[in-house]
Amino acid sequence: MNPLAKELNDTLIKGNPHTYDMLSEVGKNLYFPKGILTQSAEAKEKAKKFNATIGMASEKGEVMHFSSVMSMLSGVTPEEAISYAPSYGIMPLRKVWKESIIEKNPSLKNKEISLPVVTNAITHGLSVVSDMWVDEGDVIILPDMMWGNYRMIFEIRKSARIVQYPLFNANLKLDLKAFEECVKREAEKRDKIIVILNFPNNPTGYSITREEGEKIADILTEVAKSGKNVLAVTDDAYFGLFFENDVMKESIFSLLIDRDPRLMAIKLDGATKEIYVWGLRVGCITYGTVIDGPSRPFYEALEKKTGGDVRGTISNASHLSQTIVVKSLQSDSFAKERDEKFSILKERALEIKTVLKDTKYGNMFEPYPFNSGYFMCIKLKGVDAETLRIHLLDKYGVGLISLGKTDLRVAFSCIEKEDIRELFDIIYQGARDLTA
Ligand SMILES: Cc1ncc(COP(=O)(O)O)c(C=O)c1O
Repeated sequence: MNPLAKELNDTLIKGNPHTYDMLSEVGKNLYFPKGILTQSAEAKEKAKKFNATIGMASEKGEVMHFSSVMSMLSGVTPEEAISYAPSYGIMPLRKVWKESIIEKNPSLKNKEISLPVVTNAITHGLSVVSDMWVDEGDVIILPDMMWGNYRMIFEIRKSARIVQYPLFNANLKLDLKAFEECVKREAEKRDKIIVILNFPNNPTGYSITREEGEKIADILTEVAKSGKNVLAVTDDAYFGLFFENDVMKESIFSLLIDRDPRLMAIKLDGATKEIYVWGLRVGCITYGTVIDGPSRPFYEALEKKTGGDVRGTISNASHLSQTIVVKSLQSDSFAKERDEKFSILKERALEIKTVLKDTKYGNMFEPYPFNSGYFMCIKLKGVDAETLRIHLLDKYGVGLISLGKTDLRVAFSCIEKEDIRELFDIIYQGARDLTA
């Protein structure tokens, strides 16, 4: 093992040996290399005469650039736009993102969490988590209604196994009993369980109430207290888009981080959906657990391992993207812009609820519970979802996503409020065509 990895492991073991135990083989071996990156970081500070360390080019005191590139970018310098970012992400973004996490999750206020490490959005964040914490054969607990890409990330690329529980019970309420049974059953068979919590949920658009959040946290804490290690990963891709009063407005991350040393919470979030910059690919990984002694060295060790994994996968996330995101977050108009877009999406979600009050739809489909995010799902009655999807596409030019035999996902994030009634009428008509 590289001595730098050993040093980080020793720091982790000192702060919380269970966290160390939870790391995968890769995670245990990860370190942040002291090679070119560290030497050039030192040179950036001290080499005032000549800095000949890094594989970029400079000219006349500036980052070398084509004017055909920079002329497209106003308001950013070549340094901010096209130079390499650190593997951890640029410090202004890491700091501002951490502040924004605490602002959006007030229960975190006096709690210790890591500095976020920047990833190439949440998909890459999940892959980094998978590298650091998941070994071949590990079990990942997820609901039956989940984002399909988890399979690619954990099963195909890592040879882990996804075990699912029903998200909703027969009364279309969150099935906490099934969650509890699944978690406890899997914990009995092994020393470590990995749970992914995704609220607002893709595909259903369901977010938990605080009471449900507390219950989930209690279940995971109980398992941790029984001597099993619990890694709880919160995929907060759609964070903030909470449209109803009884929905918990904080990430469940904030209910998990200080419960038990055997409970490690990892928050994945990003600018992609939250600030509507999907293609900029900016996300963050943030850690929270119970630590013996000072938290900073412990979190720094985790950040170094995470930064090392970023270095070994994408090297660093786009500097231009990070600059755009941090400037947006710091701009005077940010809060107003965010509130405006939030209102548009909320109005669409509420419009769907109003439209679906028409009892005729109930003959053909019913909605799953939804209160947040970009999506909602309907459960079809007597029509195959994929057959209806193709029919809607071919006959009506309407595109939806079919999931399994009975479900269709509607991304209301892409449908104007005034088109919602027509959309559901077409789905209704399409279903009738197929049952007539
Ligand atoms: C639940 C969930 N997690 C993660 C992602 C990926 O987000 P990103 O674009 O930030 O990689 C998505 C995107 O569809 C998603 O629905």
